[in-house]
Amino acid sequence: MELFEDNQPKARLESLKLTVVYDNISYASGMSTDLGFACLVKGLQQTLLFDSGRLDKTFMSNLVRLGIDRHRIEAAFISHEHHDHIGGLPRLLQTHPAMKVYLHASFSARYKRLLRARGAKVVEMGAPGRICAHAASTGEMRSRVQNEHSLVLRTDQGAVVITGCAHPGIIDIIHRARSIARQDILLVMGGFHLLHDSAESIRQIIEGFQQARVRFVAPSHCTGDQARNLFAKAYGSRFIRSGAGRTITADDLGGSTRHT
Ligand SMILES: [Fe+2]
Ligand SMILES: [Fe+2]
Repeated sequence: MELFEDNQPKARLESLKLTVVYDNISYASGMSTDLGFACLVKGLQQTLLFDSGRLDKTFMSNLVRLGIDRHRIEAAFISHEHHDHIGGLPRLLQTHPAMKVYLHASFSARYKRLLRARGAKVVEMGAPGRICAHAASTGEMRSRVQNEHSLVLRTDQGAVVITGCAHPGIIDIIHRARSIARQDILLVMGGFHLLHDSAESIRQIIEGFQQARVRFVAPSHCTGDQARNLFAKAYGSRFIRSGAGRTITADDLGGSTRHT
């Protein structure tokens, strides 16, 4: 059975607010930058944290700087078990136990034990599955580096895909996300992990994005400077500069058609 039916209501893009809480790329002044990624998703049925950075102190202080009330975070989705994505969550659970935490099935018993000891309700996603009405996990995708799952949001203007490090390969993730959402992709944001790729291989990946008709990109974290520059060139006004403190809303995704 499909996760989403075509006629099912979708999240309103107008209500969606995506805020980068933690990133090694700087964007807003006053925010600490440090290796890692975290993003807060508002406007779904529940306020969802995607990943949690590396250092818990930095994570918590960035939340404060952004005016985000940590008590309002209702669930967490952790993409993979690298230290720069999992570090802030245990501290958040201290003040907010009984939170649902969505992991993929291969997280270590140690990390799951740690979360459960803090009161979290750990949900393990093996296959693609729903998180709430308009959000799903791609399901665990294999990688030689580290297995990972990504978050897919289904909106009335297209799908939004959030990746941690994209270790299983950003193009494979996009294709899976597209078949889960059963709609074109409006935005891909997060770490694309192209740090070690040649310009030629990055160009092929960008072509893959364009062939998959991804409209907007907001790469940060482990994407790499060269890849960010090449995406910026290729996507023009549909490249969204991202980093710690960046908030992406419908206004950023309004859609210039200059660069097709
Ligand atoms: Fe990372
Ligand atoms: Fe990673």
